[in-house]
Amino acid sequence: MPNLVLVGAQWGDEGKGKIIDVLTEKADVVIRFQGGNNAGHTVKIGTEEFILHLIPSGILHKGKICMIGNGVVVDPLALLQEIEELATKGISIDNNLFVSETCHIIFPYHRKLDLVKEEKMGSLRIGTTGRGIGPAYMDKFSRVGIRLCDLLNKDVFKRKLEANLEEKNLVLQKVYGEEPISFDEIFETYTDYAQKLRKYSANTSLLLNRAIKEGKNILFEGAQGTLLDVDFGTYPFVTSSNPTAGGACTGTGVGPTSIDNVIGIAKAYTTRVGEGPFPTEFPEDLAAKIRKEGLEYGATTQRPRRCGWFDAVIVRHAVSVNGCDSLAVTKMDVLDKLPVIKICTGYKYKGEMIYDFPLNIDVLHESEPVYEECEGWQTSTNEVKRYEDLPVNAQKYLARIEKLAGVKIKIISVGAERGETLLLDSVF
Ligand code: IMP
Repeated sequence: MPNLVLVGAQWGDEGKGKIIDVLTEKADVVIRFQGGNNAGHTVKIGTEEFILHLIPSGILHKGKICMIGNGVVVDPLALLQEIEELATKGISIDNNLFVSETCHIIFPYHRKLDLVKEEKMGSLRIGTTGRGIGPAYMDKFSRVGIRLCDLLNKDVFKRKLEANLEEKNLVLQKVYGEEPISFDEIFETYTDYAQKLRKYSANTSLLLNRAIKEGKNILFEGAQGTLLDVDFGTYPFVTSSNPTAGGACTGTGVGPTSIDNVIGIAKAYTTRVGEGPFPTEFPEDLAAKIRKEGLEYGATTQRPRRCGWFDAVIVRHAVSVNGCDSLAVTKMDVLDKLPVIKICTGYKYKGEMIYDFPLNIDVLHESEPVYEECEGWQTSTNEVKRYEDLPVNAQKYLARIEKLAGVKIKIISVGAERGETLLLDSVF
């Protein structure tokens, strides 16, 4: 049975939550592999809207196993709040959620450092979500991080927290002129969180590999997107993890031989939150129109998203670095009213055409998008249930995207509801 990795092919917010929710029907296990509560996966079921930040969107389906892999950084308060919120909406979490014991934990000093670092950078800031993601990954890779298994052992936790706070407080005071953070407060609160999280802690790599051996269907749920990848994105305007398909292996503890398919998710246009280059960005009047039509506000920070035309250069790059074998195109309906729709097919750099995404941000800054125009369809697509029933111009638009991206489109989304999804081919 195939194991699928689902990744964002743009700058995040491609509508992964909804697609994961739809695909979960056929999956047995859904696992997050990177990022943290900087993500916000929105799923609409009937009149109810769920925004998930840490727990895989698969939790909304009864009987599915959900896991948070070792590559994720976990803010325990955010996780506990999410569990509670789901419970109030009737979604029970009992023996179906497992959190890797080696997940690194986000502490108040990570959030504080995230905010003061951004403030100090001024106009060069990244525009982070302020959730402490970067500083938590910094500790992980500096080998001083505190993992869930450390948190669960009071003595180990005490020792590691003391060492961390000594250094963090020095930095906060001497570099940023901030007040120090109290050991007692963190130790007490986090010891309490630890007790509440103990029952979810597991060796998720072992559980996942067993499930794979038993022939279960696994869905690897990517957060953020390829262009926010610390290696393949618009560095330094990226997040601190690998949202690309390779991250699914290192972030869960399965080998590449266990992955069968990779699906890239792209919006029918492009959005981005935070700072950094965005070649196809709309002028503000069009951005405001599409933002309103597509409800383009960050699910985590409520920041208005920047909006622009579909950029085939970045999606081709995503297809390449993720090894995508198909695409899901979301939010087609948001373009329903436009008379003309543009697609960026390449960039002009120093008078020459380039078709491959430049990893050097200085080249990207100097690149001008080159567009071709497609006629709009100017009809509502929300009600469409079959590809053949899409307006001809919408079909032409999708065919052009397919050609430029170099892979088949297997899923099209024409609205936020589960039912507003066209599955063109089996993905499991
Ligand atoms: P961080 O992940 O909070 O460090 O933020 C780094 C960059 O990634 C910023 O530009 C954020 O706006 C962006 N970012 C992080 N998470 C998401 C997401 O889930 N969707 C879209 N952008 C995100």
